This record gives sequence, structure tokens and C-alpha cells, in this order.
Amino acid sequence: MKPVTKSPASISVPASEKEFTRSRSLQPKAHKLIPGGAHTYAKGDDQYPAQAPGFIVRGKGCHVWDLDGNEFIEYGMGLRAVTLGHAYDSVVEAAYQQMKLGANFTRPAPIEVDLAEAMLQAIDDAEMVKFAKNGSDVTTAAVKLARAFTGRDLVAICADQPFFSVDDWFIGTTPVNAGIPDAITRLTVKFHYNDLQSLRDVFAKYPQQIACVVMEPEAATVPQPGYLQAVKTLCQEQGAVLLFDETITGFRWHIGGAQKFHGVVPDLSTFGKAMGNGFAIAALAGRREIMRLGGLDHDHHRVFLLSTTHGAETHALAASLETLRIYREENVVDFLWKQGERLRQLVQQSIAENHLEDFFEISGRPCNLVFATFDRSQERSQSFRALFMQELIRRGVLGPSFVLSYSHSDADIQHTAEAVYGAHTVYRKALDEGVDKYLEGRPVKPVYRIFN
Ligand SMILES: Cc1ncc(COP(=O)(O)O)c(C=O)c1O
Repeated sequence: MKPVTKSPASISVPASEKEFTRSRSLQPKAHKLIPGGAHTYAKGDDQYPAQAPGFIVRGKGCHVWDLDGNEFIEYGMGLRAVTLGHAYDSVVEAAYQQMKLGANFTRPAPIEVDLAEAMLQAIDDAEMVKFAKNGSDVTTAAVKLARAFTGRDLVAICADQPFFSVDDWFIGTTPVNAGIPDAITRLTVKFHYNDLQSLRDVFAKYPQQIACVVMEPEAATVPQPGYLQAVKTLCQEQGAVLLFDETITGFRWHIGGAQKFHGVVPDLSTFGKAMGNGFAIAALAGRREIMRLGGLDHDHHRVFLLSTTHGAETHALAASLETLRIYREENVVDFLWKQGERLRQLVQQSIAENHLEDFFEISGRPCNLVFATFDRSQERSQSFRALFMQELIRRGVLGPSFVLSYSHSDADIQHTAEAVYGAHTVYRKALDEGVDKYLEGRPVKPVYRIFN
């Protein structure tokens, strides 16, 4: 890693007022027709400052253009799905060529076997794999499989990790639990990350009742040495299935997932997002002994495992095959770590130069950087989050996080660092003079909240 020599100081990109007229006029219609105005809460208007693009029309690499023609360098990249870059030529071409052959038939297509082979080559300790369209479905399928395999009902989830599935067994445990019967929520219990005793306590409180332990191998916090292996050993002792949700970590931490990165192999693992560079494809992978319950060659009760109409849509499989090929042949993961580290150092430098050490934090692995904003009393602040994003947007960066892609070039990183510096300058003034003086409109809001 080359040391960062260029300081972002005094090279802040000038802020420019952007027109969002077209976005503004489409937004009421979107809300009238679509609950929340979008199909993912994380993309919703309440997640962005008032002065933000409302709709993105197209993207190329890490650049996107909104409905009013404004151009931005984007971070987050389709909720972390687009690891290579938007409209990545060879992935688009692979999907298009497959599309011309037909999207879906009455019998399987051979490409289903091709991708199964490629996935199992990447996740080399898994023995079988099944595809679906999103991370929620495969994670829920893993829970069902674990329940069938163990004959137990309870699911132990990591309380410190934000998301596993849109399904009731998980959403019932969040503040947004309307419509979910308590009887379902009671089947999910919680333990804490890096706290083996809390998992031991769960097993002790519900002996022989925990079907599976569901966790991301790593999210905001790095595992303590030996922690993941100890979780695995405990699961083995207790007869519970260990499920690693690799929807985010899969193909960002390592081409073999965070399980390879940390050298701990779970019984089951789930993948999504990065599998198809934005195309809808997800996978449940794991030990044959468990996975085969969804198959046709055993005498146990059959598990209805991920049988969906669109689960093996051929062009999504083709996109995924090509995406995996690029990961393998071009060392994409290495790039994400190196480029992320470069950005992290530049942001850190801007924090220091603007004296924001107590008020702005950049954290996470370089391949998955996020930021947190704090007010004058060092409390987490949605107003300061909105202000920071507003000031990035004014400088041509759309950044709900600093999660980058293979398309974020050195020039993009440099531009971002300069935008961050400019945004930090305003942030500093807002701390000193009051955020209301600088924030246009309302703060952003957390997704998990009971009322609007
Ligand atoms: C860790 C994790 N698991 C599962 C999911 C669900 O994936 P999907 O949105 O594809 O259903 C997400 C989505 O953000 C996630 O972050």
C-alpha cells in the first residue's frame, strides 16, 4: 500500500447547487403509487437529505446520473450488490447473450449446473448449493432446513447485526414488527457478538431447543481471535446448525467468503448481493448431509427448499457466472481492500484537519466502509448525517456509506476525498454555529422505527 502523499486540505471541490426539479415532481407520484415511494426502505426519501437526487436514471462504473441529469460518484452501489460497477460490459453482455436463448423453461437449464459448480469452487467447503433471487429467501430457507434437520424450533440470532431477512422470524424482532404474531417472534432468541458467554447462556436457557445460530461472520466488529471457531465448537456440542449469513461479506472479504478469510467453515452459508453484480441472484450453500433434505434422494420428511418460479432465471445465472469469473481472474477483492484503504486514509486525514475526531467516524473493513456522525454532545446524529450527505451531494458524491466497487478509480477516490474535505469544513462550522444553519430541510431517519 503506497503512503498517501496528497493531502485533501485546501483542494476541496467547490460546492454547486443542483437542480432536482424533475425528481421533485416525480416523488409525490411514486409515494402515491408505491408504499414508501421505493421498493427498498434503504433507498427511501427518508434516508436522504431533502437536497438529494430522488431517482437515478442510469449508471456506468461508479458514476450515476439522476433524473435531472446531475452526475455523481456513487457509494453503496445498489445496496452493496454492484461490486464491479454499474452496467459492467462483460456482465451485461453475458446476461444479454443468455437472455436471447430464453429466460426460463419448463425444465432446468444446464447453466444451473455450471453456476452451481462455480459457486462450490469459490465456497470450497460447501458441498451443495441452491439458488434464489434474494438474500432474505435463502437465509429463511437455511433456517427452515436447520429446523427440519434438528427437529427443533428456536433460532438464535446475533443481536448486534442489523439485518438477516425480510421474513417474520427476523423482522418480528425489530421495532417494525407490526403484522407479525408474537408466537412467531418468540421463536427467535438473541445473543451478542464476540460474547461467547451470551451464546452459552442462550443454549443453557433453551436446552435442546436451538435449531440454528444465525450470524454474519463479521459485520461492524472484527471477531476476537478464536471467537468464530468457539461459536462453531459450541454449536457442534449443542447439536445446533451454524449458519453464516454472507450476504454482505461474500466476495467482499474474500473470494471464498468471510468463512475463508477467518478459516471457520459453517454448516450452511448464504450469499446474495455481490454474486451477480446487481442482477437478482442469491445462494444457499452447505453440507450435503443437511442440504440433501431438500432433494430427492433420502427417506426423511421432505423439506420444501427454495422452489421458486424465478430462482434460476437464466440471465441472472449467466451474469453471476461472469461476475465470479472476473473475481477469480482479476483479483477484484484485493482491489476493493486497497482502494478502500486509500479512501479511508484520506477521510481520516480530513477528519484530523477539520478537528472532527470526536464527531465523525469512518469504520469497517476497507472493502465495506461506513461512517457515523455525532453532534456537539457526541450523540449519534441524524441531522449531521443528513448534513454530511447534503454537502457530499453538492460536491458530486452520493454517499450513504463509503462502500466502493472495482470501478472506483484513483481519480474517483481523489474527487471523493476532496468532496469529503469540503463537507467536513461545513460540518465543523455546523458544530460551532448550529446544524440548522447549514442543513436544508429535515434530518434523515433510521429504517427501524415504530412510527413515521
Ligand atoms: C446480512 C444480510 N442478510 C440478508 C439480507 C437480505 O438480502 P435481500 O435484500 O437480498 O433479501 C441483507 C440485505 O441487506 C443483509 O444485509
